[in-house]
Amino acid sequence: MGLMEDVMALCKRRGFVYAGSDIYGGLANTWDYGPYGSQLKKNILDYWWKTFVENRDDMIGLDSAILMNPRVWEASGHISNFSDPLMDCKNCKERVRADKLIEEKLNESVEGQSNEEIFAKVMDSKLECPSCSKVEWTEPRAFNLMFKTYQGVIEDTAAQVYLRPETAQGIFVNFKNITDSTRMRLPFGVGQYGKSFRNEITPGNFIFRTREFEQLEIEYFVHPDDADAKFDEWVEMYENFFKSLGVRSEKLKIRAHADKELSHYSTKTVDFEYEYPFGWGELMGVANRGCFDLNQHAEFSGKKLEYRDPITNEVFVPHVVEPALGLTRALLVLLLEAYEEEELEGGESRTVMHFDPKIAPVQVAVFPLQKKLSEDAIKVYRDLKTFFRAEFDESGAIGKRYRRQDEIGTPFCVTFDFDSQEDGSVTVRERDSMSQERVKIEDLRTYIMDKIWA
Ligand code: GAP
Repeated sequence: MGLMEDVMALCKRRGFVYAGSDIYGGLANTWDYGPYGSQLKKNILDYWWKTFVENRDDMIGLDSAILMNPRVWEASGHISNFSDPLMDCKNCKERVRADKLIEEKLNESVEGQSNEEIFAKVMDSKLECPSCSKVEWTEPRAFNLMFKTYQGVIEDTAAQVYLRPETAQGIFVNFKNITDSTRMRLPFGVGQYGKSFRNEITPGNFIFRTREFEQLEIEYFVHPDDADAKFDEWVEMYENFFKSLGVRSEKLKIRAHADKELSHYSTKTVDFEYEYPFGWGELMGVANRGCFDLNQHAEFSGKKLEYRDPITNEVFVPHVVEPALGLTRALLVLLLEAYEEEELEGGESRTVMHFDPKIAPVQVAVFPLQKKLSEDAIKVYRDLKTFFRAEFDESGAIGKRYRRQDEIGTPFCVTFDFDSQEDGSVTVRERDSMSQERVKIEDLRTYIMDKIWA
């Protein structure tokens, strides 16, 4: 099996990720996050929030609604621009994305080109249907990726709303509320996390591209003169963020978008790409959105979205640097990075998830060597549980308990044995090195804390 299949199997076996609606035969490309997966996802989110929102004086948080006034999406350009060009093969009825076909076969981007231009390119280059090899295409049609739904009881166009395709717009439409209700001064940023929805034509690769996913987005508002410098700062901060979670630098690259590739709102974008088992692909993007969004919303809403500098009295529309990361995509990267099948001495092997201890779903497991020691071991467990994500396990041989914790990526296992009753110490086994150390129970909390935040 390849790495992706191994990780998917472990995710199901150990309760990280299950196929959605499993007992009903599933619903294609939907996934449910199990006990360890939901905890791991929350830990990544919490670490992101702490790093970029809570710990900083220039950042605040927001939690805006998923359903928004449809005019938001007119202003943002999503109604006119957020679509993929779809073509049907007249012979076998295969439906493909024309831009992807050109990208794959001709290694060219068609960003910004009209459907007529795209069609001409497909036909002139005689690009064959991947399914039946004929060149009998319908002209491309724009397929909008936003999910439509209806608000209220009447299903007519007046009641039609969209599930948000990004969390970002919730921040822009609250710019005035935020500057009116807080004392934030430029440069400042707003962080928001939450679900986004896109009716992707080619979802897949496990949780890499799904139609329902979670985003961690920041809109950082700056004076136009500062945008370039802040852009570089944010790129560097995210590089450090991934490093601090153990992502190997050789698996990560930063790629600047060519002019033709830029989204309609962006003057500069870089993607962080990761080397997935299926090849290099996007992990996140940092974009300079200029004043596009605030200007658009000012025009469509009729409300002024400006900033007055309290010292110089200069009035201007701030520019925006946007680091946008997919939480579920970050989760996939961290699962892939963590997975190892390790050969041990004596021909044995173990599967181990090398999660950074900060985000491991379980940080410490406590075992009594034998069941008769459970009462004392539980006391150690209860004490640790107030400070760490902890688990207690008294069943089976110690070796088996270690293997189970290795598979869920628990960095520390604490064994309470017969000597513990005499010397007040326990054995701490470290996941990666498998080394063991005797530690006094009274020092255990600081010992683990120091190791987690080392
Ligand atoms: N507000 C800007 C924005 O949404 P994006 O590049 O379209 O930019 C940002 O999305 C990030 O969201 C991506 O880099 C990726 O991590 C994640 N993302 C986007 N579409 C996704 C999908 N269909 N499934 C999972 N994650 C997705």
